[in-house]
Amino acid sequence: MIQKKIKDILTSARVGDEVSVSGWVRTRRDSKDFSFIQINDGSSLSSLQVVAQKTIKDYKENVLSAQTGAALRVKGEIVESLGKGQSIELSATSVELVGPSAEDYPLQKKRHSFEFLRTILHLRPRTNTFGAVSRVRSKCAQGVHRFFEDKGFIYLNSPIITTSDCEGAGDMFQVTTLDLENREEKLDFSKDFFGEKAFLTVSGQLEGEIFASALTNVYTFGPTFRAENSNTPRHLAEFWMIEPEMAFCALEGNMELAEEFIKYIISYALNNCEEDMEFFNSFIDKGIIKSLEEICNSEFSHLTYDEAIKILEASNKSFEFPVSWGMDLQTEHERYLSEEYLKKPVFVTNYPKEIKAFYMRLDDDERTVSAMDLLVPRCGEIIGGSQREERYDVLLRRLKECNMPKEHYDWYLDLRRFGSVPHSGFGVGFERVVMYLTGMSNVRDVISFPRTPGNAKF
Ligand code: 4AD
Ligand code: MG
Repeated sequence: MIQKKIKDILTSARVGDEVSVSGWVRTRRDSKDFSFIQINDGSSLSSLQVVAQKTIKDYKENVLSAQTGAALRVKGEIVESLGKGQSIELSATSVELVGPSAEDYPLQKKRHSFEFLRTILHLRPRTNTFGAVSRVRSKCAQGVHRFFEDKGFIYLNSPIITTSDCEGAGDMFQVTTLDLENREEKLDFSKDFFGEKAFLTVSGQLEGEIFASALTNVYTFGPTFRAENSNTPRHLAEFWMIEPEMAFCALEGNMELAEEFIKYIISYALNNCEEDMEFFNSFIDKGIIKSLEEICNSEFSHLTYDEAIKILEASNKSFEFPVSWGMDLQTEHERYLSEEYLKKPVFVTNYPKEIKAFYMRLDDDERTVSAMDLLVPRCGEIIGGSQREERYDVLLRRLKECNMPKEHYDWYLDLRRFGSVPHSGFGVGFERVVMYLTGMSNVRDVISFPRTPGNAKF
């Protein structure tokens, strides 16, 4: 008898096959002579229907005691199903109650609010929605690696603990072993674990630049941390970012890669997660499959920041944040541009230097930098990137203007002294990608354990 995943049984088992499956009870219905049990092992959205006759051994102890949530091991034969909703079912020859479930199992009814599910993170993966999100997320992570591997990029593991602030925004979590509770005087960070102040990284980009200066094309894919107090449906304090970095590449090539990447990952999800994508299409965001397919076949738009501001000013919309040249685009502006005005993804380029990071390449007019953000309908910014400043003198000037201590960036300046080349890269928020693909509207519902201001449970 072969131990099988439910997904494999539902897709390839034949009538007459003898199989053994293990999983958790979703529902159980009893009639006079037998019970129907829906059992799920997370391998697919669909559960397997088990029919257990009253005559099997220990029916009362094993089957009638198997409440919703209980763990079972079932052996039996695949038979044709006469009921609606499935073509085959498992006719049990034995049912073993591996782990009973208590009466107060919270996932009794079919649908719960996402807010409620966030209060039971330890049971949330057992719901249809979160199971589907987890499978799509896992597949897409594989897709990310395949995309870059196929293009010959080297996968770089950049450090989690760092002493430099990549974005220069100061939103970093400090890492320390100093005794913060019993301190008498000012903290002396030279006595700290690393001999100086250390933080959790906000981005692997600067290390990406080091390696791109040797290996040409690299990417990182890892957790990043931001201590910004943003309580929005799009921000996490801990999120996963994919960051390619390319030597000998200007802004144009950077945007080409970004567009190709987004289209690849959409196709990857549509082709590899069909059942789960159908679920999102029916229950979370009706029509999402068609809209994603259209995006794959469209060409993304391009606007400069100047053009974007003019469009926003001419929109006659009453935005919460009024529009003027020099301001950073807020989600409402980003969504207006991509969702209402262009109705497709759009790259906005050449932002004012004052609102972007020190490392972005200064444009000739010295007003703007060679930045690019990719804005998409429903989500707003999904990618942020730029061409990097490769000129030593200009970089030094920008560091000073941004009040960043030169001594912290000597190594970064060194890269501009030893074989400096035009280079570019971008960062994709992995959770934003999963939101975009699934239609889930809150970033807290596409990561297993969301970390947000005031919340780091488990
Ligand atoms: O635009 P950001 O801040 O860019 C950087 O960190 C660059 N160093 C990337 C690079 O050029 N290598 O972040 C990049 C992307 C955003 O577009 C967004 O998708 C995501 O990361 N992101 C977040 N996702 C969830 N929660 C947050 N708090 C996020 N902050 C950024
Ligand atoms: Mg950004």
